[in-house]
Amino acid sequence: MRFHVGSDHGGVELRKVLIEALRDDGHEISSVEGPTSPDEKADYPEVAHTVAHRVAKDEGSFGLLICGTGQGVAMAANKVEGIRAGVVLDAFSARMIRAHNDAQILCLGARVVGDELAKLLLREFIAADFEGGRHARRVAKMEDGAGADG
Ligand code: RB5
Repeated sequence: MRFHVGSDHGGVELRKVLIEALRDDGHEISSVEGPTSPDEKADYPEVAHTVAHRVAKDEGSFGLLICGTGQGVAMAANKVEGIRAGVVLDAFSARMIRAHNDAQILCLGARVVGDELAKLLLREFIAADFEGGRHARRVAKMEDGAGADG
């Protein structure tokens, strides 16, 4: 798979670990966004928007975003049209955000998960495929944004 990767200062060290894991597994890193050291402060919305726009433009690519909790980068990435980004802490959710929600971006919290769990979550995300069918209908409804009052 082809990945655009990014983190703020809170996610720098985990970003390096996961880039190495992706390369070891034979995946392509198309771009890396964010500081090179935890001392170099970066605002997570800027990193998340940059990566999300790259994924949106590069059809078939995926994104990996890391901040302290994973929450800030996910919230910011989801503001970019057509992007579905999810924070996960467990293997089941890592698979399901691909299988049911067709997420293109996996978000992780470097202050929440350890390196080995993060690698496992990333590999679960990669191993899953979008199931389509009724899930495609629901994903389309997400994009539409309309509800009972919409
Ligand atoms: C940075 O200190 C921290 O706020 C950020 O990494 C992230 O956790 C935000 O959601």
